[in-house]
Amino acid sequence: MTTGESVPNNLYSLQSHILAEESRHPGASGDFSWIISAISLAGKAIAHRVRRARLENALGDEGSTNVQGESQQRMDVIANEILMRCLGTRASIAVLASEEDEEPTILRRGSDGGKYCVLFDPLDGSSTLDANGAVGTIFSILRNDAAVESAEATICQPGRQQVAAGYILYGPSTAFVITTGAGVSLFELDPFVGSFILVKRDLQVPTANRVYSVNEAYTQSFPAEYQSYLSWAHASKYSSRYIGSLCADVHRILLNGGVFLYPPTISHPSGKLRLLYEGNPMAMIMEQAGGLSSCGAQPTLDVQPTKLHQRVPLILGSRDEVQAVLRHVAPRS
Ligand code: AHG
Ligand code: MN
Ligand code: MN
Repeated sequence: MTTGESVPNNLYSLQSHILAEESRHPGASGDFSWIISAISLAGKAIAHRVRRARLENALGDEGSTNVQGESQQRMDVIANEILMRCLGTRASIAVLASEEDEEPTILRRGSDGGKYCVLFDPLDGSSTLDANGAVGTIFSILRNDAAVESAEATICQPGRQQVAAGYILYGPSTAFVITTGAGVSLFELDPFVGSFILVKRDLQVPTANRVYSVNEAYTQSFPAEYQSYLSWAHASKYSSRYIGSLCADVHRILLNGGVFLYPPTISHPSGKLRLLYEGNPMAMIMEQAGGLSSCGAQPTLDVQPTKLHQRVPLILGSRDEVQAVLRHVAPRS
């Protein structure tokens, strides 16, 4: 199971954790802490709406399609609005970018300030929500470059430049997983206290676990090298777990080990998942927890983005398990 320092039974909130992190950076202005506080507030509000979605008749299609060409769920739109309302008031933010919006939202440019850009998938896995599946919010925080005119150019930074990344998983409990580059911390929402409470510091993903996570229905449409890996895994007594919600699949792997794959397919030659607000944040989490993340040709975090919504093949999880995939997919790497 996961190693990582279990926290003695004193109460330690996300707020305290971020302020302690801030104190490690002399001269920190507190701008960054305000952003995490806004994401935490949005997470609590989204958690509440997700749990009441059926009662409030907020499930199902919004009747519109997003820039991805995918039908928007009502809850996608609600979660997006909550994040915009919580983050839009923060003076330290220059640009916001969402899976649900074609263009970035520019709050401040040039000399108007705004040290950070915040990118997010407001509700990941939303198509599983009507069946009461676990869904999540994924976020990535980059530094703003005021000298760069275009907002899209500013956010097209390789994932290795992320200041912080994480996700909020709305499952049987509401988990908040975050890294600021000094390890991965896990918080759980205590609804009675109304705070995210630290439950594990410095999470380490197990180095191996013979469980792969892929949508096998598309196997015939994967490149031959991915099919070769799956044949090897079947012959090597692997088990399979696939929820179809990236946050939920990643969380299981972070805690128990294994490997997640979303390979290129005929309909999605670059894979289905988006680099800037799905691949990069999950890749930072995995690398910070001692795991790996690759697009097949190179580490996910080294990919130079060119478009806000660009897609990327994803292979991430336990170090030994990712390397086992790469022995088939990128044998000369
Ligand atoms: P989103 O709901 O934000 O569009 O993301 C859905 C993604 C991801 O959560 C999951 O890993 C993947 O879609 C599942 O795709 P398939 O249904 O093609 O397996
Ligand atoms: Mn998603
Ligand atoms: Mn989404």
